[in-house]
Amino acid sequence: MSKFFSFFITIFILTTINCKAQQKQKMNKGIKKSIAGKVDSLLNIMTLEEKIGQMNQYNGFWDVTGPSPKGGNAEKKYEDIKKGLVGSMLTVRGVDQVRSVQKIAVEDTRLGIPLIIGFDVIHGYKTLSPIPLAEAASWDLDAIEKSASVAASEAAASGINWTFGPNVDVSRDPRWGRVMEGAGEDAYLGSKIATARVNGFQGDDLSKVNTIAACAKHFAGYGFSESGKEYNTVSIDRSTLYNVVLPPFKAAVDADVKTLMNSFNELDGIPATGNKFLQRDILKEKWGFNGFVISDWASIKEMISWGHAKDLNQAAELAVEAGCDMDMESYAYVDELVKLVKEGKVDERLIDDAVRRILTVKYELGLFDDPYKYCNEELEKTVIGSDENRAAVLDMAKKSIVLLKNENQLLPLPKEGKKIAVIGGLADDNNSILGSWRIASDDHSGVSILEGLQKYTGNQLLYKKGADVTIGETAFTEELTINTTDTSDFKEAILTAKDADIVIMVLGEHGFQTGEARSRTELGLPGVQQELLEAVYGVNKNIVLVLTNGRPLTINWASEHIPTIVEAWQLGTETGNAVAQVLYGDYNPSGKLPMTFPRNVGQIPIYYNQKQTGRPLNSENNVFWSHYSDVANTPLYPFGHGLSYTNFKYSNLKVSKTNFKTDDIIEVTFDLTNTGKFYGKEVVQLYIRDLFASVTRPIKELKGFELVALNAGETKKITLKLTKAELGFYNNNGDFVIEPGDFKVFVGGSSETTLETEITLH
Ligand code: BGC
Repeated sequence: MSKFFSFFITIFILTTINCKAQQKQKMNKGIKKSIAGKVDSLLNIMTLEEKIGQMNQYNGFWDVTGPSPKGGNAEKKYEDIKKGLVGSMLTVRGVDQVRSVQKIAVEDTRLGIPLIIGFDVIHGYKTLSPIPLAEAASWDLDAIEKSASVAASEAAASGINWTFGPNVDVSRDPRWGRVMEGAGEDAYLGSKIATARVNGFQGDDLSKVNTIAACAKHFAGYGFSESGKEYNTVSIDRSTLYNVVLPPFKAAVDADVKTLMNSFNELDGIPATGNKFLQRDILKEKWGFNGFVISDWASIKEMISWGHAKDLNQAAELAVEAGCDMDMESYAYVDELVKLVKEGKVDERLIDDAVRRILTVKYELGLFDDPYKYCNEELEKTVIGSDENRAAVLDMAKKSIVLLKNENQLLPLPKEGKKIAVIGGLADDNNSILGSWRIASDDHSGVSILEGLQKYTGNQLLYKKGADVTIGETAFTEELTINTTDTSDFKEAILTAKDADIVIMVLGEHGFQTGEARSRTELGLPGVQQELLEAVYGVNKNIVLVLTNGRPLTINWASEHIPTIVEAWQLGTETGNAVAQVLYGDYNPSGKLPMTFPRNVGQIPIYYNQKQTGRPLNSENNVFWSHYSDVANTPLYPFGHGLSYTNFKYSNLKVSKTNFKTDDIIEVTFDLTNTGKFYGKEVVQLYIRDLFASVTRPIKELKGFELVALNAGETKKITLKLTKAELGFYNNNGDFVIEPGDFKVFVGGSSETTLETEITLH
């Protein structure tokens, strides 16, 4: 093909794509306009009580033979739905339940406005994907989007049309149990993943039966709960708020996320739920968000405990004025707002604005066309747990595994002729590996790691528990602090290990040791597992340690002594198959840590994009520099770290411009070579450092990455781009600026990069 001809074809394709995008935009605008008209007509005929009803969400369970409400306040909830005083329900699920509650809203109320049905679809519905932190370790945005779309399709087939996800809270504190729900410590990676998840849940057409509305949460700052303690106060500076906390929310809004959830914490002494600066000034005004904001569970009422509102009446007033559109389980709006409007304390236009936002999303979901569109038994039967969905979560699970260490090439395992001991209670566990936040899944429905390994029959496999993590069955809502102290099974585990060629030890946390309200102050292996590891090591050093956990752990001893360590997180339904395929080399791991592993708890918060400080180095050879006396400044495993069964070499770093102007695009190119023996994938990472700025900048900031596949011996030239979007930052007024000066550009396979160069903005 001549150059001219291929140029012509490219232009033609680009123009067609552009035309299609423009057509879609036009169509969306058209739909939005017609929805706006319908919403206004509906608003005009609604009473004040009915409007406020749309702003009220109740939690509830419904019997299929019902409607027969159960649980606290059930009668009131039931009566309120009939009166048109409820706009949404959460945790009602399954086609029968959803239909029975929807029927009351649609058929028994004056206006028949359908309910929007919310649910925490956090990492899958019934077929579970890896916990979100693990998925983030894949750095594979297509796979993450696909995983969210699988979750959406199962939830939608069960009658649900709105998920309380994604959780986009950036956090630097692994003591906080909810790090398992997010995408880790970095705002850039977190923003890309936020976009992928919103796209996955909402698809390209919200009115389809396999897409649901997403909800970016928790707005904002919750991941910075002081000392990692759940529901604690948050104290962050403006620079951190604008550059670290808010970007993933902004990315979600730019991806057209339909809803946001505010958070339990306060910011600048004002609870996020009643925080006008966050919800009105930034979100709705500056960013132009036109979806709606829901409170977190009873967070309007909690403003009383915070000492911000004197009673529920004032809490309702503060929340609605701050821009919180829907009340989850505080009974504040439904019980107080009518009074507040009638007394002239709350302007009815605020109510109209909130209701307009809520009704718009219901129209966009297609609920007014058919309120029962998500209630299709046939889909419920065929979509949930389908082979296709299991294959998708298995794929995601393999991509999420991180090889932390592989000395002596113990992995991949030989496929035959070896005696392999498998040790650790978590190896034979089909429940913990499902992870936290999985309300709709069946307990014990995962493939255990032992089961996965047993599918490879060429070796002799000998399983001994050695030790459990916790005592007895555990549940999502129960306190889980009881780690076992029982060492009675050590003996036979040690004997078995002694005699084996290789020992696979599966250790870590129980799935319910992370998640909401699961903060911990010690991050070593819980219970007697460390003792067990050391005892086994005493008789056999050929150990492959497989970790299953929901947060970074402090595993110094293991890192020093154990030759091979695999971070397998909690990978959901297909955990065991994914782990076995990776251990046996049928899948070459390519995951990279989305969160730093500390050496000890005292280092926390430890994160790669720290500030330089005024005393970064021991240059004077004295004690007065920024460091600890008892531990290094470096982490155990840095952000972005992860190995492969093959090796990668980075070389020939070049930039297209060393001197550039604000609107220039800088191409950063380098060669990546697979110098090992296996086909493999590598997440190449691009970092920058703005050397001098009006607000100090971190020593490194991730600004680009790509997942590159290479055959053994192959070299590829990689090009990543930098523009002002990557080189600028938010100043303390929240304005995005790019300042002239020098920047370092780094490239490598982790935040401990290998190549660097400099560029200058004039
Ligand atoms: C959590 C939210 C969740 C809500 C509803 C709250 O406790 O903080 O993330 O969406 O409950 O289950």
